[in-house]
Amino acid sequence: MNESSFPAWLAAQAADRADRGLTRRLVHSDSEPLLDLAGNDYLGLARDPRVVAGAVAAARSYGAGSGASRLVSGTLSIHTELEREMAAFTGFPAALAFSTGYHANLSVVQALAGADTLVVSDAHVHASMIDGCRLARAAVTVTPHNDVAAVARALAGRSQRRALVLIETIYSVLGDRAPIAELAEVVAAADAVLIADEAHALGVAGPGGRGLLAAHGLAGRPDVVATGTLSKSFGSQGGLVLGLPEVREHLVNRARPFIFDTGLAPAAAGAALAALGVLKVTPELADTVRGNAAILADAVGVTAPAGAVLSVPMPGPGEALAAVATAAGHGVRIGCFRPPSTPDGISRLRLTAHAHHTEENLTLAAKILRLVVAG
Ligand SMILES: Cc1ncc(COP(=O)(O)O)c(C=O)c1O
Repeated sequence: MNESSFPAWLAAQAADRADRGLTRRLVHSDSEPLLDLAGNDYLGLARDPRVVAGAVAAARSYGAGSGASRLVSGTLSIHTELEREMAAFTGFPAALAFSTGYHANLSVVQALAGADTLVVSDAHVHASMIDGCRLARAAVTVTPHNDVAAVARALAGRSQRRALVLIETIYSVLGDRAPIAELAEVVAAADAVLIADEAHALGVAGPGGRGLLAAHGLAGRPDVVATGTLSKSFGSQGGLVLGLPEVREHLVNRARPFIFDTGLAPAAAGAALAALGVLKVTPELADTVRGNAAILADAVGVTAPAGAVLSVPMPGPGEALAAVATAAGHGVRIGCFRPPSTPDGISRLRLTAHAHHTEENLTLAAKILRLVVAG
């Protein structure tokens, strides 16, 4: 093979990944029916008949696709209904729906930052926010994880007129929570804007699953913008930005991942609306998922998390992969994050709790987790 050819380059990349134990594979959950402690369907709503019926009804009424960008002809009344309902539920005055949570984060950073803006980003924010910084082409300062003093210093020392602070309220890799109240104070004092990703908090944390911004009385504060996903607790697909109506209007006009993207599929919007309906009539689902997370945390010897995500450090990627394989052999699917998906370079098991797991499921899960973590 010609060493400078495209196939040779691909083969060299694959060999390098294999050498470092970092080869990834696609996981087929429908053909491998295991007890799931890896997925993000925290409330078990993706297969809830009411949610599936919501998807079907929306597809029947509005069609399989929205057919165009929201600015061309792709805005449907199910989008505006979803936005109204999600804003009312979370306590924000307005919402805008996106085709994924990834697009929501890209959009909010790209459209709200500019040449006159410093973006202060926690070291552990999701890849979508990091990519949003790249799209925005703004100056970025990355601060150590959950370091409020470092955020305050970055804001105080800025030369730019405006500033955005990027956080997740519950972090996706470690499952820990941000010091939200302290950060909100620092942001207000520096005349900045807090952009908080609630992807892992909506549905599992805060009053009735309304998220941690609602829990801190920050939902609707003019200098707070939230993002979220419909693909985790809401069992569907899509993303959200929550904030002032002026923020919504600005994104509609300036967010490239919104403007140049087809509107959210009607079935996804219908499913998310139905899931929200389920959550409103069964608010205890949020407590249940956190209770189940505490049981799993006890089994692996870590502190109970703020949401559904648990993180167990492993000696290396090989040990993490071996634990995943052993658990699968015993009928339990767990996930593992390896570099470059871990912000601190540490390989870890990543476990997720679910509200619909039975006592029997939890007993099996705890037994297998003890086994694989003990090595
Ligand atoms: C913290 C966080 N933000 C955003 C996303 C992106 O959401 P989506 O899967 O809807 O694109 C994810 C996960 O996938 C996430 O974990």
